[in-house]
Amino acid sequence: MNSLQLYEGADGKYTTLPFHLPEQVNGKFKIVREVKRKGSRLSVVSLRNALLMGLPRAAITLERDVIIHRLIESYADGTQAAMWMSTLPQELEQCTRQLERAHGHVLVGGLGVGLAVGILCLNPKVKTIVVVEKQKEVIELVQPWLPINKPIIVVKQALKQYLKENKDSSFDFAFYDLWCLTQEWVLSSYVWPLRRLSKGIVEQSNIECWNEDEMIGQVRFSGLNWCLLSFQNKFKIRGLPDLMSLPPKKFRDEYRKSNREVWPFTAWVHDKRPGEAEAHEKLEQFLTEIKDQPMWLKHWRRYENYGYGQYRVTANPAFKKRNKMNHEKREKVSNIGADASLLR
Ligand SMILES: C[S@@+](CC[C@H](N)C(=O)[O-])C[C@H]1O[C@@H](n2cnc3c(N)ncnc32)[C@H](O)[C@@H]1O
Repeated sequence: MNSLQLYEGADGKYTTLPFHLPEQVNGKFKIVREVKRKGSRLSVVSLRNALLMGLPRAAITLERDVIIHRLIESYADGTQAAMWMSTLPQELEQCTRQLERAHGHVLVGGLGVGLAVGILCLNPKVKTIVVVEKQKEVIELVQPWLPINKPIIVVKQALKQYLKENKDSSFDFAFYDLWCLTQEWVLSSYVWPLRRLSKGIVEQSNIECWNEDEMIGQVRFSGLNWCLLSFQNKFKIRGLPDLMSLPPKKFRDEYRKSNREVWPFTAWVHDKRPGEAEAHEKLEQFLTEIKDQPMWLKHWRRYENYGYGQYRVTANPAFKKRNKMNHEKREKVSNIGADASLLR
């Protein structure tokens, strides 16, 4: 992004949001407008995005004062609980890039300040938009101000519920943006369940999840790192037992002491003891298939509960029962949270 498209409001002020949105408070949510002064230097592609996603690092200097909108959620005592969204150039770049391929009937998860909807309304290839937003207050703050040049339906519901209850609906493109941080566990506990629930509703290749590539970049680094360390047997340096020599269940237990996730790729390395070249090739397959969850499940599901026997297919009911009990026990100690149920 070399230049920043600005929109002039009725008040003569310039903003990055393609429609007018006033400052307002509704319950624990508020829309805040902040002036970024002419001459301010603002990030467009952060170092983090550049490193993890392979994008060119970029920043912009404002040539005039610009209004930035934010959606903020507060606790009862007024302190900030979450900054859900802003219209800073960095958000604009991410949203614009991820919505480039949008067309036809589009599903949007999370209304926020309506930036994504505003961008979609400027796209002649987009015909209709359905926005699913779980917070009534957010809908009341933003919906009345949305552009009116395209049919927009706003549904007040949690996105997972919407996807479960609308199996017969069909969309050409979807953009999911329900989280404000990127971490590996966000990928497995938010993005994957949503992708899996979207099966039959929207093509996997036409789903964009906010900053998914950044999270895949994080997995690439920790996955590769783990792989290389294990081949060089450097775990002892970190005071850990030699994980590769442990049996699967013990391996998983030990590994989880220092890592929240045991990625199926990691389990595969332990199971197969591949050569370095083979491991690198397989890691690429693992990362690519993340964005095609039905395919990913076909190849990797068996390694999701590595060491606990879950992936073993058996007709023996006693074995099945024991597996189920083990699974329930494991669920109790899982720190992935309530979303873990959707991972399978
Ligand atoms: C990061 S903001 C979305 C920003 C939006 N893409 C934009 O362009 O302004 C996340 C939004 O998702 C909503 N949200 C959070 N969890 C949700 C869920 N499970 N289902 C639907 N909406 C959710 C939040 O209330 C918030 O409005």
